[in-house]
Amino acid sequence: MKDKDALFKGSQAKEYALFNRAVPHHDDFQRTVGRLVNSSIIRPAAAKGKKATLAEGGIGTGCTLSMVLDETGMLAGVERLYAVDVSPAMVDICRRDFAIPQIEFVTADLLSFFGGSAPTLDGAYSAYTIHNLPQVDQVPIFKAIYAKLKPGGCFVDGDLLAYQDPELQRSVFQWQQDMVRKNLPPELAEQWIDHYNQDALRYFTAEQLLSVLSGIGFTARVEYREKLEAVILARKP
Ligand SMILES: C[S@@+](CC[C@H](N)C(=O)[O-])C[C@H]1O[C@@H](n2cnc3c(N)ncnc32)[C@H](O)[C@@H]1O
Repeated sequence: MKDKDALFKGSQAKEYALFNRAVPHHDDFQRTVGRLVNSSIIRPAAAKGKKATLAEGGIGTGCTLSMVLDETGMLAGVERLYAVDVSPAMVDICRRDFAIPQIEFVTADLLSFFGGSAPTLDGAYSAYTIHNLPQVDQVPIFKAIYAKLKPGGCFVDGDLLAYQDPELQRSVFQWQQDMVRKNLPPELAEQWIDHYNQDALRYFTAEQLLSVLSGIGFTARVEYREKLEAVILARKP
């Protein structure tokens, strides 16, 4: 079992440390997701005398999952957490590292999971995942999550979002690229910068994402904003 203090060993530990140097608010961002999962999904279920059923979309190597474990006292108050990723390699890593009975690992695309086999959920969350898809493919996922949430259920979406003001976006994006160049070995820095450049084409602005989510039916607001990172809390009325 892995908790936040033992986060990642070997090459994963090195990558995690590098990421935190290039994105110094990374832990705050991930912790905000964990805190909101606890306060907006698990505690409201507990207040009704129930255990929560929820899902994480895009577990990767488990950074967000670690924060959720930390913020929820190792899933106290959770009946079932579906931990979903399209990559079998990522699911294998997390299955090895997070041997917790309430977690059910699922190798699936988010749309097929939320649009298909997922049960009705008290909540869903995701971090650094949905922006990897073209905008046109992000919207059906938001709709599928909405459809699977119980009334009052919440979706916590931590992701990279652009600023509406082009000059602000340019300067924040430049800051992020400078931080990558300053803190990472040159070859790795160039790979990350390529990745940021490709990703940036798919970023929603916070305003666009709030508008998409409210068009679907969510009541949504920005709970955290630092540089390119943002955490949105979206509630199904
Ligand atoms: C950048 S990682 C983020 C992992 C973790 N939340 C974190 O913050 O470290 C994104 C993960 O989403 C997964 N992913 C990307 N597109 C997906 C999709 N359409 N369906 C399911 N998983 C997806 C990738 O395989 C990857 O493991």
